[in-house]
Order: sequence, then C-alpha cells, then structure tokens
Amino acid sequence: MPLTSRNCIMWIRLFKTLYLIGCTSVMCAVLPLSAAPTRDPAAKGNDCVACHKSEMPLPSKHPSTKTNKLSDCMDCHEKGTDDTVITKIPGSHLHQLAGVTCADCHGSSGASGSKLKPVAVEMDKCLTCHGSGAKVAAMTAHVKPQNPHVSAHYNTDLDCNVCHHQHTKSENFCVECHKFEFKVP
Ligand code: HEC
Ligand code: HEC
Ligand code: HEC
Ligand code: HEC
Ligand code: HEC
Ligand code: HEC
Repeated sequence: MPLTSRNCIMWIRLFKTLYLIGCTSVMCAVLPLSAAPTRDPAAKGNDCVACHKSEMPLPSKHPSTKTNKLSDCMDCHEKGTDDTVITKIPGSHLHQLAGVTCADCHGSSGASGSKLKPVAVEMDKCLTCHGSGAKVAAMTAHVKPQNPHVSAHYNTDLDCNVCHHQHTKSENFCVECHKFEFKVP
C-alpha cells in the first residue's frame, strides 16, 4: 500500500488500539486490585508493609517503625504541630498503634485472624475506653473557638462516629452550619 495520509492515519489508529489493549491487559496483570492495602487483623499496627505491600505509605528514607508505639511516633510527629500524623493516618491506625486491636472494637465473633467478621461499632463501644461524653469534653475544654465535644444542640451526646472515622478521613460535622475550623483526628 502506498503511504497516503489516509492509510497512514489508519495504521496509527491500529497501532494505538493494539498498544492500548496491550497496556491495559499488562496493567491488569501487573497491578491487580491487591495494590490497595488490605485489612489484615493479624498485622501489627507498626508493620506498614504487612498491609500496604508494595505501596509503602512512608517516605523511602523514613526510620523503621517496626518497634514503634503511637507514643514513639509522637516523639517525631508531635501533636498540634505541622509534623503531626494525627489527621494524616486513619483512626484505626492510631488505635492499632496504641495497642487497640480490630477485635477490641469489632468483637471477635466468628473467628480471629483473617476470618474476623466485624460487627458495627456503636458509640457505647468507644465509651467503654474513653469514659463518657463529659470526660471526653473535659479533654478538649481548651479548644477555641468552641469545644467540639459539647454544644447547646447536642450537649455531650453526639455520636462520635459522625466526626471520627476509623477507616477513612474524619470529618467536621459542625462545619455544615458553623465556621469552626476543627482538625478532627
Ligand atoms: C492492618 C493493616 C494495615 C497496617 C498495619 C497499616 N495500614 Fe495503612 N491503611 C490500611 C488500609 C486498609 C487503609 C485504607 C483505609 C482503611 O480501609 O482503613 C490504609 C490507609 C492508610 C493511609 C491513608 C491513605 C489515604 O489515601 O488516605 C495512610 C497514610 C496509611 N495507611 C499509613 C500507614 C502507615 C504509615 C502504616 C505503618 C505505621 C500503616 N498504614 C499500617 C491498612 C493498614
Ligand atoms: C525518629 C523520628 C520519626 C519517628 C519515630 C517516626 N517518624 Fe514518621 N517521619 C519522620 C520524618 C523525618 C518524616 C519526613 C517528613 C517529610 O519529609 O515531610 C516522616 C514522615 C512520615 C509520614 C509522611 C508524612 C506526610 O506528610 O506525607 C508519615 C505518614 C509518618 N511519618 C508516619 C509515622 C508513623 C505512623 C510513625 C510511628 C509508627 C512514625 N512516622 C515514626 C520521622 C519519624
Ligand atoms: C477504634 C475502633 C476500630 C478499630 C481498631 C477498627 N475498626 Fe473497623 N470500623 C470501626 C468503625 C467505627 C467502623 C464504621 C465505619 C467508620 O467509621 O470508618 C468500622 C468499619 C469496618 C468495616 C466495615 C465497613 C467498611 O468501612 O468497610 C470493616 C470490614 C472493618 N471495620 C474491619 C476492621 C479491621 C479488619 C480492623 C483491624 C485491622 C478494624 N476494622 C479496626 C471501628 C474500628
Ligand atoms: C479498646 C479501647 C478503645 C476503644 C474501644 C476505642 N478507643 Fe479510641 N483510643 C484508645 C486509646 C488507647 C487511644 C490512644 C490514646 C493515646 O495514647 O493518646 C485512643 C485514641 C483515640 C483518639 C485520639 C487520637 C488522638 O490522639 O488525637 C480518638 C479521636 C479516639 N480514640 C476515638 C475513638 C472512637 C470514635 C471510638 C469508637 C469508634 C474509639 N476511640 C474506640 C482506646 C480505645
Ligand atoms: C463534632 C465532631 C466530634 C464529635 C462528634 C466527637 N469528636 Fe472527638 N474530637 C473532635 C475534634 C475536632 C478533636 C480535636 C480537638 C483539638 O483540636 O484538639 C477531637 C479530639 C478527640 C480526642 C483527643 C483528645 C485529646 O485532646 O487528646 C478524643 C480521645 C476524642 N476526640 C474522642 C471522642 C469520642 C469518644 C467521641 C464520642 C463520645 C467524640 N470524640 C466525638 C471532634 C469530635
Ligand atoms: C444544622 C445546622 C447546625 C449544626 C450541624 C450545628 N449547629 Fe450550632 N447552631 C446552629 C444555629 C442555627 C445556631 C444559632 C441558634 C441560636 O443562636 O439560638 C447555632 C448555635 C450554636 C452555638 C451558640 C449557642 C449559644 O450558646 O448561644 C454553639 C456553641 C454551637 N452552635 C455549637 C455547635 C457545635 C459544636 C456543632 C457541632 C457539634 C454545631 N453547633 C452544629 C446550627 C447548627
């Protein structure tokens, strides 16, 4: 075939299609869904690789975290500073690093290990460790311009889970109506 501009475009299209089919199938084979982190109940909170596999969530020169507890992380990532990791890692991570296991929140119905069947975590469960709404409010009495844990609307009874999430970014429930700039751990 003589190389006219028309069949040149045709060849380019054919090549592009083959190229794209090739790339996508290679990508599907090489980057399976397992690129997403797993929630392995047997993994220790400081063993990032156990769940994140090759998608390491730490900078490459980060010191090893293998012996760290949450309080060790805080030595370098102090609360209230720009360096803090409190709002950068999910709540479940903060808990696991503080020694709270999946089963401490979700119960151990079914089995342990990877067969754990999580049950929903109600606010009462949070309060078995955190005390009471009033006790939690006392911890943040200093927060300006407003204590997030007490208000005229809900007193100290607002469900923890509307703000604090354990497996995704937490949210500032009050901002729907107010301009409080809360950073929710
Ligand atoms: C028990 C398994 C497990 C361990 C151990 C673990 N992670 Fe995760 N991580 C996850 C999962 C799963 C997610 C996705 C959110 C979810 O489902 O909880 C996640 C999410 C994250 C995110 C948020 C990513 C985003 O896109 O918002 C960061 C940051 C993170 N992990 C950092 C770490 C670091 C740092 C360590 C080690 C100190 C660690 N993780 C240990 C399972 C784990
Ligand atoms: C000895 C000090 C030290 C300890 C202990 C430490 N880190 Fe770090 N961490 C650093 C430094 C330094 C950086 C890099 C900061 C930068 O380059 O932005 C960093 C970065 C991170 C980042 C990326 C932050 C971002 O903004 O992208 C995460 C997440 C993190 N550390 C989590 C942890 C966790 C979780 C622990 C405890 C298990 C921990 N670190 C313990 C020093 C430390
Ligand atoms: C501090 C308590 C706490 C810890 C620790 C915790 N979770 Fe959760 N989990 C929750 C809450 C609360 C929800 C409801 C969704 C939310 O707020 O993020 C949830 C939701 C879930 C869900 C179903 C909903 C979804 O987001 O997919 C699964 C599955 C789950 N958790 C598994 C685990 C496993 C496995 C671990 C340990 C690696 C773990 N959780 C650690 C509190 C916790
Ligand atoms: C088995 C006990 C236990 C349960 C259940 C529990 N927590 Fe915690 N929580 C802890 C511990 C321990 C810490 C770490 C305290 C520390 O060292 O600063 C913590 C820390 C926190 C923090 C603070 C992170 C920070 O330092 O800023 C929040 C927010 C929190 N928990 C909310 C919740 C919520 C919401 C629930 C229910 C879904 C819950 N917790 C269930 C024990 C528990
Ligand atoms: C309206 C959103 C909201 C609700 C609902 C909420 N919190 Fe908080 N929580 C926050 C904010 C914002 C902070 C951080 C305050 C600050 O700036 O120090 C916080 C901080 C915390 C801390 C860390 C306190 C400290 O100073 O170390 C704990 C523990 C905590 N919350 C537990 C709970 C528990 C348990 C519940 C349910 C009884 C709950 N929270 C309900 C927004 C909320
Ligand atoms: C659905 C909208 C809405 C949400 C969500 C909301 N507020 Fe309000 N809030 C209002 C309105 C409207 C007023 C004014 C009512 C008045 O002045 O009588 C108000 C007033 C207030 C006041 C002043 C009351 C007083 O003592 O004079 C405080 C403090 C307050 N809210 C705190 C909060 C906190 C903390 C949250 C989150 C936990 C929150 N609000 C969530 C609508 C909301």
